[in-house]
Amino acid sequence: TSHVASLQQPGKPSVFSDDEYADLDWDNLGFSIKPADYMYTMKCSKHENFKQGQLSRYANIELSPSAAVLNYGQGVYEGTKAYRTEDGRILLFRPDLNASRMKIGAERMCMPSPSVDQFVDAVKQIALANKRWVPPPGKGTLYIRPLLIGSGPVLGLGPAPEYTFLAYASPVGNYFKEGSAPLNLYIEEEFVRAAPGGAGGVKAISNYAPVLKALIRAKSRGFSDVLYLDSVNRKNVEEVSSCNIFVVKGNVISTPATNGTILEGITRRSVIEIARDYGYQVEERVIPVDELINADQVFCTGTAVVVAPVGSITYQNKRVEFKTGSRSVYQELYSTLVGIQTGVIEDKKGWTVEV
Ligand code: COI
Repeated sequence: TSHVASLQQPGKPSVFSDDEYADLDWDNLGFSIKPADYMYTMKCSKHENFKQGQLSRYANIELSPSAAVLNYGQGVYEGTKAYRTEDGRILLFRPDLNASRMKIGAERMCMPSPSVDQFVDAVKQIALANKRWVPPPGKGTLYIRPLLIGSGPVLGLGPAPEYTFLAYASPVGNYFKEGSAPLNLYIEEEFVRAAPGGAGGVKAISNYAPVLKALIRAKSRGFSDVLYLDSVNRKNVEEVSSCNIFVVKGNVISTPATNGTILEGITRRSVIEIARDYGYQVEERVIPVDELINADQVFCTGTAVVVAPVGSITYQNKRVEFKTGSRSVYQELYSTLVGIQTGVIEDKKGWTVEV
């Protein structure tokens, strides 16, 4: 906490007074950027390890025009959230998993990465320094965005000589404008998201801009998001632009296996565990699109998206509808997950970290 205390400006109210909230319309958060006060920065050079980072006011950063991240997309990002409990505590959810996922991604993108402890410490500092931006219970969460970028200059294609780890935060509500209403997904047939041997399995920043074309096209036709098929056969379900997907048939819940083209979602992994605890049979495997179309229920998972029901899927101009509503499988998994994250349900798994 000493890092933050030293940042307080004379005459400004302390960011620590418990009853203080940032001046925001907490009832209409949505998922747009409303930067919280402080960000965290840590730098290191190639062949070095990250050392001490620090908090500073959220502000623009300076980058060389020839920074590797700007020219060649050398970067990975993470997404995690801070939750406010009814009794005013702040919880993080499995931040160590974000840390190890960033390490794996960094390795794939030839970058040094913070240690798990450094990463978790940075996320804790961000949550604490920006405590007044953590929404009141039931209104949303503080979304924390760690970034790791090749910030040093390059011209020829090669890894950057210098790296920057950054973390900033923004309060968020529902990811989709539909709120918590069921999503209408569109199965994309022209573009693919990832190919075997590519970087689809890690959170490379370069995985996200190429999906915009299909995403914007689908949104303009009234869909919530795009569901991608595998790039080889164009017939197996992969993932949605912003989240993983699950299909339910009877007592069996299935999701595409992570084989290098599917993002290893932390919500995905947690939901699999919760579903198994409830006695569902959970299968990670290849899911042909025909099987998806014939599912009883479909839902999506992600840090930003949480657990979202899918009401319809449109494939080859045919729209198929799925059961949603209060007694569906997604609802049971959603309430258990969010219950643990917000301290309403006792965390027997050691998933939450109090800051
Ligand atoms: C997240 O769920 O945290 C993500 O990183 C997905 C992003 C498209 C918002």
